[in-house]
Amino acid sequence: MAGDKELAGFILFLSQFPFLQAAKILTISFIGGSHYLLMDEISRILHDNGHQVRMFRQFGDGMLPGRQAQQSPYPVSTYSLGEKYLAEYKALFTEAQKDNLMGRDSLQNFLIFLNELSHQCNVTLHQSDILNFLKEEKYDLAVIDGFNPCCFLAAEKLGVPYIAMFPGTFMNAAKVGVTGPLSYVPIFQSLLTDRMDFLGRLKNTFMYLGSHIVDKKMDALFQKVIDEHFPLGSRPSIADLHLRAELWIYNIDFSIEFPRPLLPNIQCIGALLAKPAKPVTQELEDFIAESGDSGFIVVTLGSMISSLPLVEFLKEMIDGFAKIPQKVIWRYKRSEWPQGVNVAHNVRLMDWVPQNDLLGHPKARLLVTHGGLNSLMEAVYHGVPVVGIPLFGDQYENMVRVKAKNMGTFIPPDEMKAEKFASTIREVVENGCYKTSAMKQSVILRSRPFPPDQQLLGWVEHIIQSGGGGHLRPYSYQQPWYQQFLLDVILFLSACVAAIIYLILRVIRALIYFISNRKQKQN
Ligand SMILES: *[C@@H]1O[C@H](CO)[C@@H](O)[C@H](O)[C@H]1NC(C)=O
Repeated sequence: MAGDKELAGFILFLSQFPFLQAAKILTISFIGGSHYLLMDEISRILHDNGHQVRMFRQFGDGMLPGRQAQQSPYPVSTYSLGEKYLAEYKALFTEAQKDNLMGRDSLQNFLIFLNELSHQCNVTLHQSDILNFLKEEKYDLAVIDGFNPCCFLAAEKLGVPYIAMFPGTFMNAAKVGVTGPLSYVPIFQSLLTDRMDFLGRLKNTFMYLGSHIVDKKMDALFQKVIDEHFPLGSRPSIADLHLRAELWIYNIDFSIEFPRPLLPNIQCIGALLAKPAKPVTQELEDFIAESGDSGFIVVTLGSMISSLPLVEFLKEMIDGFAKIPQKVIWRYKRSEWPQGVNVAHNVRLMDWVPQNDLLGHPKARLLVTHGGLNSLMEAVYHGVPVVGIPLFGDQYENMVRVKAKNMGTFIPPDEMKAEKFASTIREVVENGCYKTSAMKQSVILRSRPFPPDQQLLGWVEHIIQSGGGGHLRPYSYQQPWYQQFLLDVILFLSACVAAIIYLILRVIRALIYFISNRKQKQN
């Protein structure tokens, strides 16, 4: 048959095509916690598929408290910021957590955190031994944490083209040219959904204008580091480095995000860490079995937060748990549990929990979470409803999405009271609508045309094979802002309209003058 012949010809054509050899890929991860977990997963996927991967990493394993150090299958270049600084950094983080637990998530604290990142960046860029070694290695491509401006600077310093992986929602949308339409695309931190009333759209518009100021402030924190490490004349700007990424990958999926317009150089590859569940240990299995039909709930407040620095808050939580019939598996560093506070009989504290495996357990009823995206994706994947206690960063925004998809709700930390906590948990566990929605979102996530690891691999290899992402980057990235927003055209058209109106007025005036003149003459 002709079809078969064509197919055979096509396969012959494909076999002659130079398939991608193992590429040299550098992954860059300078923040611990969830950022690292994601970059680690990406490194593993690329490594497992035959690429030569190395990670440039900061901190050692210090930023995942409670988790046992794991041998990574790919080599890592790492360095430490020093015990003294790390202790200071931890203290600063703990202070910020106290604020957050009282419901104060301030821009000020965020900028303080970014300022620390910029300080760390200075240390990073002074690691000339590692940088020289990496430069010699001549990587084909870097995959970097697109949240941390320092990763861009490191890639720039190494002269390696890069794909930016953004670990959260479209928080930096303006910087990659995908804000709006403001009528249904909520601006980060607005706490709006895609369904906005008039006041919502008004708020969204103001937030959009304000977001530019915040972006500028964020970038400015890195100016001194740029000045110190790049010679005059070849100093990059953070804003430009954002636009120069070969590709942007967002750790997001539309099972949880609102639909919105994007660009071809932006790919959404969420839920890389959500996987089919493996069996949990016998010990855990025994503990879960004690719960009977009530099942159990999983509690984690983020990979970086292993204990709560506010005893009153902790008490409200544990008193809340004492009031529910479920067993509770809570990731909490046991050595930091305050003396004199009783652990309720149904609660089991663990330094680190196999969260994905627990959520995939048939008796899992609920995830209590800070609202980090990786955790939420695992909950979506396994169809487990959520009660959030958002603390900072994108966590409030993520929980707004969970609520909008009706797969859970959240309690702002300053409203945390044992009774309210327990009744919220009861409502979300017992009212079947949350479970139904969670299962629906789970089907949406799981039935994506391609699993995320294949998507990731495919896109990375596409970028390498096609020699970069130039064919995906919109021309708008090079346009001056007045052209991009068509201000020159609007100005020109306005001038035309004004000229026409002016002419019409002149004609009318002339006519009036002419008519009144004639009347006078007749009189
Ligand atoms: C960067 O670190 C060096 C060496 O510790 C120090 O001398 C310099 O002032 C730092 N620069 C910035 C911008 O913090």
